[in-house]
Amino acid sequence: MILGIPKEILANEQRVAALPETVAEYVKMGFEVLVQSTAGDGALRADAEYSASGARIVGDAQALFAAADVIVKVKQPWFNKETGQHEVEMMRPGAVLVSFLHPAAPPNHAMVERLAARSITALTMDDLPRISRAQTMDALTSMSTVTGYKSVLIAANRFPKFVPTIGTAIGVIKAARFLVVGVGVVGMQAIAAAKRLGGSIKAVDIREEARKAADSLGAKIAGFEAPPDLALGEGGYARALPPEWLAKERQALEPLLQEADIVILSALVPGEVAPVLITEDMLRTMKPGSVIVDVSIDQGGNCAVTEPGEEILRHGVHLVGQWNIPGSMPVHASWLYAHNVLHYVANLFKHG
Ligand code: NAI
Repeated sequence: MILGIPKEILANEQRVAALPETVAEYVKMGFEVLVQSTAGDGALRADAEYSASGARIVGDAQALFAAADVIVKVKQPWFNKETGQHEVEMMRPGAVLVSFLHPAAPPNHAMVERLAARSITALTMDDLPRISRAQTMDALTSMSTVTGYKSVLIAANRFPKFVPTIGTAIGVIKAARFLVVGVGVVGMQAIAAAKRLGGSIKAVDIREEARKAADSLGAKIAGFEAPPDLALGEGGYARALPPEWLAKERQALEPLLQEADIVILSALVPGEVAPVLITEDMLRTMKPGSVIVDVSIDQGGNCAVTEPGEEILRHGVHLVGQWNIPGSMPVHASWLYAHNVLHYVANLFKHG
């Protein structure tokens, strides 16, 4: 069986779905592995390392897609400008695709239909059950780990002040105040990173379990609790709050935003667009120079005025709507993802 690792083609996507060490494991499992030339460059892994691990380097995408029985990718198939073909059209009919697909997102529906039309068996990495057996395959958690950490660094870089308390001969500079809204995997890593930088942190989440976790990491639990029957859905995940409770949450967030220097927004409800928790009017009341990183932007954003993929200054507040934050830390993001898909593929293709 031939397994193909193409070079990712989405703008600014530096990750790769396999590293030389995971290629070696695929070869041991009995796969013949093809890797597109320079696919590992963004993760700082050279073609020669892949060859030494048993892969055959293929010069162009068309040849790789045409030969592979199984394509392993990071991002959903896209139109390849170099070949003038959509990646789905380059795949062999009946082949298997393993990738993040986000099939429920409306912009991806046409791509899913193309996959169906070509009889591709497509396995999406973003919908694995969060069960113990699947933990090593949990690519969403891996990427959220990167995102939470990096979102704090992005914010600190935009912030025109120190983050930690600094004692100087002139006087003491106070630590920056962080507000983390939504304490899932992203929020937890954001709290940990903000703590390491020396910030003081408040956190908001509608799930009690998340609030306890934030507390255990040293964040102060702030201001808002929704009734558990409204906040909790299937499997202990968050549910979309009814409009009147979202209005109450926005009210509770107002004073927290006014005192915050850096806000990390990562409140999400599985399978839904992100709840809008900050309106433009609320931005007006924030301190000039403060920074918001709206990590939920891929699902529409938690702030009403975040521009997808852009960074804007609105009412004195830096509002960051950067897409694909894991793609900006390609070495460790690829290391995590490559091992997640290796475990996933090993689980599916036993004994060749
Ligand atoms: P997510 O990305 O879907 O949501 C992020 C957070 O936003 C959640 O904590 C949610 O409660 C919160 N949220 C939703 N609506 C909100 C609102 N209106 N205001 C404030 N916060 C709001 O969550 P993620 O990161 O995918 O994980 C959620 C939980 O799943 C984790 O905290 C963990 O308990 C569990 N999990 C378990 C794993 C395992 O056992 N293998 C792996 C990963 C996560």
